[in-house]
Amino acid sequence: MNVLVTGGTGYIGRILVPDLLKHGHTVTAMDRGFIDYSDPVKDYGSNVNILRDDIRTCDPSLLRNYDAVIDLAALSNDPAGNLNKMSTWDINYVGRVRIARLSKKLGTQRYIVASSCSVYGFKDEVCNETTPVNPLTTYAEANVAVERDNNALNDKKFRSTSLRFATVFGYSQRFRLDLVINAMTFYGYTNNVIRMMRDGLQYRPFIHVKDVSRALISTMESDNEELGGQSINIGSNTLNLQIKDVAESIKSKLKSDSKIELYGDPDNRSYKVNFDLAKQLINFETKYDLNYGIEEIIDKCENGLNDIPQMHTVDYYKKLLEYETEIKKFSNLKAKIIL
Ligand SMILES: NC(=O)c1ccc[n+]([C@@H]2O[C@H](COP(=O)([O-])OP(=O)(O)OC[C@H]3O[C@@H](n4cnc5c(N)ncnc54)[C@H](O)[C@@H]3O)[C@@H](O)[C@H]2O)c1
Repeated sequence: MNVLVTGGTGYIGRILVPDLLKHGHTVTAMDRGFIDYSDPVKDYGSNVNILRDDIRTCDPSLLRNYDAVIDLAALSNDPAGNLNKMSTWDINYVGRVRIARLSKKLGTQRYIVASSCSVYGFKDEVCNETTPVNPLTTYAEANVAVERDNNALNDKKFRSTSLRFATVFGYSQRFRLDLVINAMTFYGYTNNVIRMMRDGLQYRPFIHVKDVSRALISTMESDNEELGGQSINIGSNTLNLQIKDVAESIKSKLKSDSKIELYGDPDNRSYKVNFDLAKQLINFETKYDLNYGIEEIIDKCENGLNDIPQMHTVDYYKKLLEYETEIKKFSNLKAKIIL
């Protein structure tokens, strides 16, 4: 298939794009490159066409001739989304609906958008796809709105699917330190301190980034028409984990005498998610568990994974916004780094 991946040089894109190539697909990655620090051209090789463009403003003709579009472009978490609510809405909702509508108009047959289990908010019950959504942040609201509008575009010629991912962990060349397992492991290794939000009893659903890529490719390649117009949870029933257990697993894998340190007020925000529908529709089950992800990150640390600003997604976006404000003070030109 000829595939366009928007946000294709981000954390998930860095794993997905090479996997798509391995599956024999032809790939174009469109990304503003807000946070690139390792050269995607070097990482992907010359077989991937990289477009440095913006989903909000790109020329529609760039979306011509694709069999499938996988839409990963976004300000990618709750705190980043709260930095500038207008930009978040503009990219995560308006931008992604634009890409879906143009893709449909230009003859793409399959479209998948990356949504999130955060659409459920925090609940006592185990959430499945029939559970009413309860978005608590701009990021989650934009996901709910984009699912609604893009799923509604589904028809016989254009299959539109929204995948609600659990919180991701694991290594990619654009490593994210705003993700809880990544951060606890990385700082456990580098500082001997595993910082855990008080009191660690809260549950969260998790998924390894390699499994995210597998789910996206299975969905794209599947001929199952039932995928059209659907929102589907992607994760594992066995990876609804309590944060304190995650912290203990990390501690047990570190060579040093690391300690677990509590921070923040007691966090009552807890939720668990059911992932049976993905098994039913695309026969999806995760392959990579928590231990795999922890050991992988420790291994990368042992081989020189350094703490760099771009890994701190929220702080880094904050700096870009400040930089934009500074530039605007001195110039009438539109800032190049504008969010
Ligand atoms: N990582 C997770 O835990 C997780 C969980 C659920 C859902 N998701 C979703 O998966 C998608 C990818 O997440 P990720 O973890 O790879 O995040 P990421 O921040 O690493 O990647 C997002 C990419 O989108 C690009 N981008 C942002 N705005 C753009 C624009 N206007 N035009 C073009 N490119 C733009 C950024 O430069 C970045 O490379 C996001 O939609 C995210 O919300 C991620």
